[in-house]
Amino acid sequence: MSISEVVLQVFSGVGTSYCYPNIGSSSSNLKLPFKSYGKCRKRIGLWNIRPLNNCRTTQSCKKYGIWQVRGIDCGNTSNNRLWFSSCQCQRVENISETIGEGSNGTWFKEKNLSPIDGEVNAQKVLDSEEVQQLKHEKEGFMSNGSITKDASYSNGTISIEDEAWNLLRESVVYYCGSPIGTIAAKDPSSTNVLNYDHVFIRDFIPSGIAFLLKGEYDIVRNFILHTLQLQSWEKTMDCHSPGQGLMPASFKVRTVPLDGDDTATEEVLDPDFGEAAIGRVAPVDSGLWWIILLRAYGKCSGDRSVQERIDVQTGIKMILKLCLADGFDMFPTLLVTDGSCMIDRRMGIHGHPLEIQALFYSALLSAREMLAPEDGSADLIRALNNRLVALSFHIREYYWIDMRKLNEIYRYKTEEYSYDAVNKFNIYPDQISPWLVEWMPNKGGYLIGNLQPAHMDFRFFSLGNLWAIVSSLTTRDQSHAILDLIEAKWNVLVADMPFKICYPALEGQEWRIITGSDPKNTPWSYHNGGSWPTLLWQLTVACIKMNRPEIATRAIEVAEKRISAEKWPEYYDTKRARFIGKQARLYQTWSIAGFLVAKLLLRNPDAAKILMNEEDAELVNAFYCMIDANPRRKRSRKGQKSYIV
Ligand code: GLC
Repeated sequence: MSISEVVLQVFSGVGTSYCYPNIGSSSSNLKLPFKSYGKCRKRIGLWNIRPLNNCRTTQSCKKYGIWQVRGIDCGNTSNNRLWFSSCQCQRVENISETIGEGSNGTWFKEKNLSPIDGEVNAQKVLDSEEVQQLKHEKEGFMSNGSITKDASYSNGTISIEDEAWNLLRESVVYYCGSPIGTIAAKDPSSTNVLNYDHVFIRDFIPSGIAFLLKGEYDIVRNFILHTLQLQSWEKTMDCHSPGQGLMPASFKVRTVPLDGDDTATEEVLDPDFGEAAIGRVAPVDSGLWWIILLRAYGKCSGDRSVQERIDVQTGIKMILKLCLADGFDMFPTLLVTDGSCMIDRRMGIHGHPLEIQALFYSALLSAREMLAPEDGSADLIRALNNRLVALSFHIREYYWIDMRKLNEIYRYKTEEYSYDAVNKFNIYPDQISPWLVEWMPNKGGYLIGNLQPAHMDFRFFSLGNLWAIVSSLTTRDQSHAILDLIEAKWNVLVADMPFKICYPALEGQEWRIITGSDPKNTPWSYHNGGSWPTLLWQLTVACIKMNRPEIATRAIEVAEKRISAEKWPEYYDTKRARFIGKQARLYQTWSIAGFLVAKLLLRNPDAAKILMNEEDAELVNAFYCMIDANPRRKRSRKGQKSYIV
């Protein structure tokens, strides 16, 4: 079934009195009429539930933007700034009535679940009493981070892990009473909040994993389904729109006055696709992370019904279509603008940055696992498979660097015009920076940061390298070599706080030209060689995958010495990470969650499988076919050594 057919099927049976997609159905083949949900309205402290079939008119739909998000004709869609999804709470008794006949309706009624939580294996949704209970628990925790009363508090001490859990729970954001994400930072000392009060998609991943590992599935399920609703669908917004299928960088729960009623308010989700972000950067990584989290949710909870839902399947396909769309590009790597991932600022990572490629590869493999086999998907799956083969070959061959490869580049001939050029990208050997000649260890290697015509970005970018291991984008030997390099370069990559985001920093003229003299990205600060505790969790998954957990254990021990006492900073500065970052937020949620995930996984390494992609035998075969097809580089399969161009 093609995506448009899926859309048609989902939208079939829409009567004029039905407005919203039902995000709560657990059945993948249920043809969903878009019933309206009661809205979560506040009036002088009361939860006022709108009758269920009291639908918004198309006029008010337009105002609330959900039709634009989900692409139904709502008339004039010029009021695009109000592009948020509105709150969809409802009383459970009424839901089952509107769901109508069929097992799902009955199930909702019996299980007393809200629409978004309608799944069997998922942890029970928080009912209002539980929400109250949670709020009471939270009251024991002061916003300045000090603990006044807590279950884990005994003899005046509290473990760092318990403190982290308290802080993580404190960061949870609620939407109509249900947990749907975690705020980026809850720093009481910060006067300028900017967008750190948003739920960032990428920042939520370690939070989500921590909750999954703890058996608390609700928040992750809610996050997945609500962010799906925010996914860009309709192609018009202020004369231009993000590509269909793009996931926002972040969203915020806002309380707004209810239409035509001055005394009441309602909650809405307000996404940012980069149109308000500093530098207007495009969040390419969001959709990729979303797919990775969706798979982890299914694997961890055992609840596959979420990924099987028609709207979720459509969401996956839309992300894939956006990524696999034809362009002018000659490479299988994903072409993006600067700042389109964790480094969401100008840092000279436009083109084909490694982080995006590793996430892309991981998302493609994860999506392939989850896509329901159906006729209409055949073309998409074929395109996906072709891309996987080409992408892994390209990265393993052309991004890989170690002593041997470096020496090869050092002796490259240039200006080769031919199909079988050795120096395919016309790299001038003078590009090899003096730092690299000194830095490259005899044992070990890594994937370079970016590859473009006549340009290799030799900087070491941590997240891309770690996720390449996790997703099996690198060969087994390459993965071990990356960990060897991390051990060999411990004094700069970990030093006094794990983990350096990239190495080395851009300095002097290079910094001026490449960052545009960015005062936040000065040498050895923030994205420019700063150290980010959140990267601990990706490091841990990579180490567990290669059966070398002791590396992660060592890094955690380093972090533990300072991180809690220094209030969980967002990042650290200086070459050895000695200072808390100049403009770092304190109580940064993904620093807290990253630490927790690392701890939890080291205790239960098997659980890390929910994030890993194992090497696919078909891909390996295709890879060797490509190698063998090249007469210049015949290699034996036996040794499976690292692949050198
Ligand atoms: C910074 C980081 C980005 C993160 C955001 C919220 O902009 O660069 O990766 O998502 O803060 O924490």
